[in-house]
This record gives sequence, structure tokens and C-alpha cells, in this order.
Amino acid sequence: MNPNTQGKETEKPPSSTPRLARKWRVAVLANIKEHDKPLPPDVPPDAGADFDYIETIDHIRAAIETDGHKTLFIQADANLPYALKDAKPDICFNIAEGLGGDAREAQIPALLELLKIPYTGSRVLTNAISLDKTLTKRIWRDRRLPVAPFQEFTFGDEPLRPELHFPLFVKPAREGTGMGVDARAVVNNEAELRERVEYVIRMYHQPALVEVFLPGREFTVGVLGRYDTVLYSRHPEWYNKDGFLRLPVLELDSSRSVTPGVYGIEAKAQSVGAEGAPDYLCPAPIDPELCKKLQHLAYRAHVVLGALDVSRTDFRLDAEGNPRLLEINTLPGLTPGYSDLCIQANAQGISYEDLILEILYLGASRFGLVPPREIPTPQPSKKKTSPLLPKPAAS
Ligand SMILES: Nc1ncnc2c1ncn2[C@@H]1O[C@H](COP(=O)(O)OP(=O)(O)OP(=O)(O)O)[C@@H](O)[C@H]1O
Ligand SMILES: [Mg+2]
Repeated sequence: MNPNTQGKETEKPPSSTPRLARKWRVAVLANIKEHDKPLPPDVPPDAGADFDYIETIDHIRAAIETDGHKTLFIQADANLPYALKDAKPDICFNIAEGLGGDAREAQIPALLELLKIPYTGSRVLTNAISLDKTLTKRIWRDRRLPVAPFQEFTFGDEPLRPELHFPLFVKPAREGTGMGVDARAVVNNEAELRERVEYVIRMYHQPALVEVFLPGREFTVGVLGRYDTVLYSRHPEWYNKDGFLRLPVLELDSSRSVTPGVYGIEAKAQSVGAEGAPDYLCPAPIDPELCKKLQHLAYRAHVVLGALDVSRTDFRLDAEGNPRLLEINTLPGLTPGYSDLCIQANAQGISYEDLILEILYLGASRFGLVPPREIPTPQPSKKKTSPLLPKPAAS
């Protein structure tokens, strides 16, 4: 049992697999790295860094096939609509990052909604917002979740707000996998700020997000579920009564990595345990109070943005040691033994196969492909609502 969850697993319904009418044809949708293709001239040097290796797709397919389903892989490019018409999948396992535009992670969910094809994970609006770190932070700030002071630069010559004191941190507003983030993201004066902001706007064709530099430790926390998870999960015993599983906190210690103190594109590309890679500590060596706080904030971050079934929220501590939310990943990496979410699931005692099948089954349940678990009829003399039917969490 993991120390982060110890003592919470009481009064859980027993684990059982929902009985499916039949096995499915599952299409795994992704954008795959293509090393042999030269980059077009107008894209940044790290374009496509968040795309997946074909080996990751193979792992996901193998995991899905352990439960008897048939799988195929479809590249999430402009041919996808035609490929889907040919393949006629029952459901798509979506990990596609999308191609271009201002909300690429929402492109595939939008297409699947248009074609009325079931799919896993968050829907269009959440995936669009979560890719946009500025918009995400505005929503979180509105719901009183702690974020570092920030300002978005669209043109580059906007006056810097007086509450933003150096050092500051500059990153593209709508990228992932540490794209556009290296040691030069930390700026110490007005000249460095202007140079970096101009670089991000020109190179990434999008606004630059400028935040107060957070000097403290870095953590990330995965969340599985939604308010009615226990009706459909193959493992209802994993979840709290509210329908959510807060995974163990993972600390990313980049102090001895290739980019000391910054978990950016280069540090993320190193294999776990290799020279120059960050140290991945899971469960994080932190006191239980901080652990609880981070897990609660990750849960709130997920609910407030309307994330479904899976997400991972990144944090850093500020100069006073208080956690600040950096961003949420509603399409977190799923490479076994490497991606943060897989490391956290492993620390929780959840196998890779079970993690992938859980995301699949929770997604499928939203489209009526999984029958709800039978709920015992409540006794009139006792509580009015069943513990198996939690109310939606207030957001
Ligand atoms: N305000 C900040 N202060 C200090 N470091 C920061 C700040 N913002 C980001 N970083 C560093 O840059 C890294 C990447 O930033 P962030 O998590 O926002 O972007 P990302 O590229 O979308 O990440 P992911 O790979 O999780 O998608 C963080 O992991 C952290 O090390
Ligand atoms: Mg991040």
C-alpha cells in the first residue's frame, strides 16, 4: 500500500469487471515522431517533440489486447477522417497531440464528436483550454487555486506589469513536453526578457507566457476518474468516495540534469536513470501535509477544468515554499517506465495494462459501451443516497 493513500481505502466496493456485450475494435490515434522527415523552414527546432514513438503505441495496443479487444493504429493527420470511415472503430484511444493551429490537442476530439465516434479522455473544450497555459491559469486563479503571478505577451512590447519582479520565466503559452523551455527561459533583466519574449513569439508563432520564477522543488500529480467513476470502473476500490484517485506525488529533481533546475525539453528527453536525466522520486520524499495539499490541488485543477478520466498537473514551490500550479496535461504521456503518469501509477501498484484499460473503460462508459455496476437498493431506514452514487464534486 502506498503511504500517500494509506488509510483511505475503506468501505470500497469490490473489484469486478463490467460485463461487455462484445469485444471492441479499438483505434489508437496518435502523432508519431518521423525522424527521417526534414522539418519545414517555419517551425521551431523542437517541433514534434511531444509526438509519440511507435513503440509507445505498440505498448498501448498490447495492453488493450490483454482484455480481448482488437486494435489498430491510425496516424492523426489530415487523412484521419477517411481512415476512420474505413476502419469503423467502436472507440478511439486518443493520445494525439494534433497538428498546428491554436488548439491542436482539441482537434481529434472535435473530429470524433463530429463523426460521433466514442473516444477516451477529456473532451474538446478542456483539451483546448489546457493546451493554453494562460487561459488555464486565468480560470484557476478565478477559482482561487494558487498560481504564480503572470502576464501574456502577444506583441512583445507590452509594458511589464509592476508586480512581476525579476527573475522571471518565459515560455510559449501553448506547447508541451518542455518545448521552448531551456536554461535561457529564466530572465534576469528587461533586456533578457524582451529578447526571450521576442524569440518565443517569432519562433513558436504564439504568445509568450511570462511568470514569476519559482525557485522551489518541482512535483507532478496524476488524477484518474470523474464523479461517477465507481459505476463503471473495473477497479472501484482504487477510488475515493468522490470518484477520484489522486496518484502518489512524483518529485522531479532537475538539479543534476542537463539543464539544472529546469525540467525542459532536453532534460525530458533523457532516459530515466541516465546521466543528465532528472531524478524521478515517487512517492516524493515530502511531509504528509504537503503531499495531501498537492494531491488536493491536482484534484481541484482537474475538476475545475472539466477534465475527464485522466490528467496530470505540474507544480513548483515558490520562494516561501508554497505550491503553485504550473499547468495541467489532459493528454499525459503514456510510455511505460518513462512517462510521469506511468511512474506514479506504478508507485500506486497499478500495472501499465490496468492503467491503459482503465482509461479505455472509463472513456467507453461515457458512450454507453460499458453497463453501469448494479447499485444495491438503499434501505429506507438508513441514508437516502447510496455510497456508490457520489454527488458531483462542487467546482
Ligand atoms: N514559473 C516557473 N518558474 C520556474 N520554473 C518553471 C516555471 N514555469 C515552468 N518552469 C520549468 O519549465 C518546465 C516546463 O514548464 P511547463 O510544465 O509549464 O511546460 P510543458 O512544456 O508544457 O511541460 P509538460 O512536458 O509537462 O507538458 C517545468 O517543468 C519547470 O521545470
Ligand atoms: Mg509540464
